[in-house]
Amino acid sequence: MIGGGLALYESEEAWREVDAYFVQTLTAEDEALVAARESGRETSMPNAEVAPNQGKLLALLCQMIGARRVLEFGTLAGYSTIWLARAVGESGQVTTLEFDKDNVAIARANLERAEVHDRVEVLVGPAADSAQRLIEEGAEPYDLVFIDADKPSNPQYLKASLALTHPGSVIVIDNVVRNGAVTDPGSADPRVQGVRAVLTDIADDQRLEATAVQTVGSKGWDGFTLIRRSQ
Ligand code: SAH
Ligand code: DHB
Ligand code: MG
Repeated sequence: MIGGGLALYESEEAWREVDAYFVQTLTAEDEALVAARESGRETSMPNAEVAPNQGKLLALLCQMIGARRVLEFGTLAGYSTIWLARAVGESGQVTTLEFDKDNVAIARANLERAEVHDRVEVLVGPAADSAQRLIEEGAEPYDLVFIDADKPSNPQYLKASLALTHPGSVIVIDNVVRNGAVTDPGSADPRVQGVRAVLTDIADDQRLEATAVQTVGSKGWDGFTLIRRSQ
């Protein structure tokens, strides 16, 4: 039981209804986004894509900072990638990292359907390796990074992101709440430890300003961390 004696299932239903209302009113998906979301079922991680209103939040963040270059850790079916690619516009560029070949094939079809494939590069392989290669190649800095792959590697992905961004860049880390598990310092779940470790790294880094926000909705109870690199 939580809040005012509401059973958890009752509140989850209400969260879902509110999300459905917001999405319907403000962040409607077109056919390409619907198809990408639905094809998520055929991936290795059904239902792991961001909610439509979180996809729109990523897009708005890109537009608010005038992002031209975006880096994403974890492509899945390309659902969040489509939101990001549309937000950077025709002259923008999204690089997205994914190691599951079947997911990559699904994502490529979705990116094509959404007509953003020309501005998206899917780098296939372990995200840490691809990011390292970008660093070694001297990739032009990214304006926004979305970290949404395997959670135990979050600290490594943040470190790579710092080598691939500039002062003023924004970094978003998904799934930092996980039904509240994040507050358990003794958690045996490596995903929880990955989140806790990256939060500590952020707090210890003088270059970073950050906050974390809990969300409820169509994805249950979770949340994200929003970071601005100041120097
Ligand atoms: N950003 C997507 C969801 C990503 S789900 C969206 O919101 O639409 C997480 C993805 O990370 C999965 O596709 C999974 O295969 C991928 N992944 C997990 N570990 C990885 C690794 N070590 N390297 C690259 N990709 C990885
Ligand atoms: C998981 C990963 C995600 O990126 C997500 O949005 C939801 C769930 C997971 O690892 O279970
Ligand atoms: Mg996620």
